[in-house]
Amino acid sequence: MGNTVIIGTQWGDEGKGKIVDLLSEHADFVVRFQGGNNAGHTMVVNGKKIISHLIPSGIIQGKKCFIGNGVVVDPFVLLEEIDYLLSNHIDVSPDMLKISNRAHIIMPYHKLIDAARETKKGDRKIGTTGRGIGPCYEDKATRRGIRFCDIPDFKGFKEKIITILEEKNFYLEHYFKTDPVDPETVIAQFRQIKDRLLPYIADVSVILSEGMNNHKTVLFEGAQGTHLDIEHGTYPFVTSSSVVAGNAANGSGVGPATLNEIIGIVKAYTTRVGSGPFPTELFDDIGDKLQKAGSEFGATTGRKRRCGWLDMVVLKNAVRLNSLTGFAITKLDVLDDLDEIKICTGYEHNGKIISDFPAEIKTLQKCTPVYETHPGWKQDISGITDFNILPDNAKRYLARIEELAKMKIKIISVGPGREATIIKENIFN
Ligand code: GDP
Ligand code: IMO
Ligand code: MG
Repeated sequence: MGNTVIIGTQWGDEGKGKIVDLLSEHADFVVRFQGGNNAGHTMVVNGKKIISHLIPSGIIQGKKCFIGNGVVVDPFVLLEEIDYLLSNHIDVSPDMLKISNRAHIIMPYHKLIDAARETKKGDRKIGTTGRGIGPCYEDKATRRGIRFCDIPDFKGFKEKIITILEEKNFYLEHYFKTDPVDPETVIAQFRQIKDRLLPYIADVSVILSEGMNNHKTVLFEGAQGTHLDIEHGTYPFVTSSSVVAGNAANGSGVGPATLNEIIGIVKAYTTRVGSGPFPTELFDDIGDKLQKAGSEFGATTGRKRRCGWLDMVVLKNAVRLNSLTGFAITKLDVLDDLDEIKICTGYEHNGKIISDFPAEIKTLQKCTPVYETHPGWKQDISGITDFNILPDNAKRYLARIEELAKMKIKIISVGPGREATIIKENIFN
């Protein structure tokens, strides 16, 4: 397997964790390059479920894992996650995990600002996970962020916290009318975890480059999905980082020419959690059926996910924006009981058919999906691991996706477990 990037093509929760876990067997290093603990990636191995928010999913295959410079890291959540994995007998020693010294730290005030902003927005809220992601990226862009490389010089680190809290507390007290944050409390909290964090901090870019020079294979684990991307998603109902494949290189500190394969993860239908436009959303019994059959609850916040049909406008957008080299289709088994399955082939807007994803939210909200209807297969496919014995109607549904998106399907997932997978085209050699 060459260096491979895993990207969500829709609005997140496509099953990236499962596919990263599966492919990790063939990689040496696994890297997260953007986002933070707003992500929730689920792996099911030998019937046991593990959810990771921050640490790359490759950790359960015993691969060396990296948190790149493009990720925003809440160190308290990180240590909790390390403890959770250790309690599941997974090695997360500093030999197995390194955090980029350039990664920005999510501070307690970032979470408070995230929550206070959502409350103030009322009906217009984004539906953020409230993990402080947006406010942390904001400070990074305005050059007021605090990075992991600031921790070793603890005196300088303390001064940075005191300085920035003057401004943050003014904002919290006078704009949001909430309690200020006591700098001494924050400093004391960091003093307690500092020594545990230090062995994990390293120059990830340098380690990855050296590894690649020594023929190590890297798997890049995307978080969120293309339509939550800050540049290309349904702005402002997006996350605060660049989610697309181009950022896999930048967010881990390697050059773009090192990326060989880019796999777009596609849920066989569509889900979205949080607010924002979703043209193929279903408000009927079928939407409920998908939600129940797919156990569509957020892995991070536990919120019910909104469900709808597969949308080719969305998928074609993802193919173009990410230079995808193949699809992995997940949760095909969730469609097993449906009589009919629809695919959205375009949007109707003011009497015209549009096939390119619109930039404007108002336009998107006025789009009506144009559907074609396919017969269901009405058969349990969850135990199938050979493509040839999939029901004909399932094969036709997949072939139509390939035809419309002009993209090959390389992997098909028919259950949450690692074993419930059909490898259609071998990408491992
Ligand atoms: P991620 O954020 O993209 O990693 O996806 P999540 O883990 O948030 O959500 C995907 C959910 O679907 C998880 O509960 C997975 O265990 C589950 N899942 C993944 N692939 C399949 C599949 O092929 N079939 C079924 N039924 N569940 C799946
Ligand atoms: P994974 O990696 C689904 C959504 C939130 C909200 C918006 C902004 O598991 O696919 P943020 O906390 O980033 O400020 O929230 O983005 N969101 C996700 N939705 N899966 C995710 O990650 C998400 N990460 C953020 O629900 O609508
Ligand atoms: Mg998720």
